[in-house]
Amino acid sequence: MAPRILTLANQKGGVGKTTTAINLATALAAIGERVLIVDLDPQGNASTGLGISRTDRDVSAYDVLVGEATVVEAAIMTSVPNVAIVPSTMDLWASS
Ligand SMILES: Nc1ncnc2c1ncn2[C@@H]1O[C@H](COP(=O)(O)OP(=O)(O)OP(=O)(O)O)[C@@H](O)[C@H]1O
Ligand SMILES: [Mg+2]
Repeated sequence: MAPRILTLANQKGGVGKTTTAINLATALAAIGERVLIVDLDPQGNASTGLGISRTDRDVSAYDVLVGEATVVEAAIMTSVPNVAIVPSTMDLWASS
C-alpha cells in the first residue's frame, strides 16, 4: 500500500506543529503504522524531541533536498518503536 503523507505546516510560530508531529507519529506507531518523520524545520526540534542529538545528524533533510543523499541514507530509527526520522540541521536555514 502506498504511504500516506501528512504535512504539518503553518506560517505562524509556536502553534504546536512540532508537538503534533511527535505525538501523532507516536500514536500512529502505537496502532501498528510505520512512521517516517521528515523534519524540514532548521530548528530541528522534532529531531531533538525524538532523541536525535545534533552530532548524530551526519546525513540530513538538507542532503536529501539537494540530491546528495537518499531518504534511506538519511533516515534514523528513534527510540520510539516504528518511528524513524530524517533529521534536520541548520543547513536548511543557510539554503533558504
Ligand atoms: N495542544 C497543546 N496544548 C497546549 N500547549 C501546547 C499544545 N501543543 C503544543 N503546545 C505547547 O506550545 C508550545 C509550542 O509548541 P510547538 O513547539 O510544538 O510549536 P511549533 O509550531 O512547532 O513552534 P515553532 O514555530 O517554533 O516550530 C510548546 O511549549 C508546546 O508544549
Ligand atoms: Mg516546531
